[in-house]
Amino acid sequence: MRYRTLGSSDLEVSEISLGSWLTYSGGIEADQTRACTKAAFEAGINFFDTANVYGQGTAETAWGEILSAHPRDSYILATKVWGRMSDDPADQGLSPAQIAQQIDASLTRLKTDYVDLYQAHRFDPTVPIEDTIEAFQKVVEQGKARYLGFSEWTPEQIQAGIDIAGSELFVSSQPQYSMLWQAPEAEVFGLCAANGISQIVWSPLAQGVLTGKYKPGQPIPEGSRFASAEMAAAQDLVYSEETLEAVRRLVPIAEEAGMSMPTLALAWVLRRGEVASAITGASRPEQVHANAAASGVELSDDVLAAVDQALGDVPITEPTLAPAAQAGIKHR
Ligand SMILES: NC(=O)c1ccc[n+]([C@@H]2O[C@H](COP(=O)([O-])OP(=O)(O)OC[C@H]3O[C@@H](n4cnc5c(N)ncnc54)[C@H](OP(=O)(O)O)[C@@H]3O)[C@@H](O)[C@H]2O)c1
Repeated sequence: MRYRTLGSSDLEVSEISLGSWLTYSGGIEADQTRACTKAAFEAGINFFDTANVYGQGTAETAWGEILSAHPRDSYILATKVWGRMSDDPADQGLSPAQIAQQIDASLTRLKTDYVDLYQAHRFDPTVPIEDTIEAFQKVVEQGKARYLGFSEWTPEQIQAGIDIAGSELFVSSQPQYSMLWQAPEAEVFGLCAANGISQIVWSPLAQGVLTGKYKPGQPIPEGSRFASAEMAAAQDLVYSEETLEAVRRLVPIAEEAGMSMPTLALAWVLRRGEVASAITGASRPEQVHANAAASGVELSDDVLAAVDQALGDVPITEPTLAPAAQAGIKHR
């Protein structure tokens, strides 16, 4: 496993990291969660990403049990705040009260005194950005988080944060990024790089679609994410016959390059120096090992050109399609 520096921080994160959305929040059994996490440590993965909202605390609780058995300095832990945590519509977002309450709840569930990275899961247009930033800074001052990041903020929102608190405020940006979802390359990557902010990218396998296991015109394999309506959270975004046809065109490219489809897909996101880590998901320990094998694999110019040709018009490249793009920015 190779490691990359996370933005302007002193954290060295594994190129392949493990996330807990849809899996360790209740999607798979507890013993499989344990087995996947064990596989991650075996493979040299040191970076774990979760969120308060994954299973409304379930994913954090599961990892709290497992990770707390390891020395605290042997893993880098990231969580997030923003999502709705209960039936109460006020129990969400990035108000100072919510951030103060949610960091404590996350730390309790994660059985630790601090997280290495605390992220705004989305932008909150209902709260003055100055208030949100002060609340996050307080979390760091209190020693409850070492560094701060954001997920799916627009360039305007990122710039507003930097204008208020300087480029050292954030060390990471967490956008969706894969061969099938290339949108953040256009504006987010450059702005962040200029300000010492790394990308840690989610769904780099497009939720499993880029492993090639879903075949056009064929039934969805049993036990896979898209076989379950609950698990297929964003099916319409990455799963269509057109996409599956494009992915099928990638298979011979991987074969000729002597690598698996997960390796091709993960090495493709890691080809960009702006990306510090690809946050993968896994429902089985074999997947963790297969995905970890992509670290250190370099793709030739010929392979990259062949990938572009195979994908055709399928990738989403428009920045305006990013989920948070419509949100405004409130000031004091
Ligand atoms: N910031 C955000 O808003 C946001 C949003 C989404 C995710 N995330 C983060 O990103 C993490 C990863 O997201 P993701 O789970 O969608 O990532 P992903 O790596 O694109 O997809 C993971 C899923 O693909 C399948 N898979 C993985 N490796 C495989 C392999 N080698 N062979 C065959 N199938 C394989 C597994 O599902 P099955 O075995 O069930 O088919 C696995 O659960 C999340 O856990 C979370 O930490 C963040």
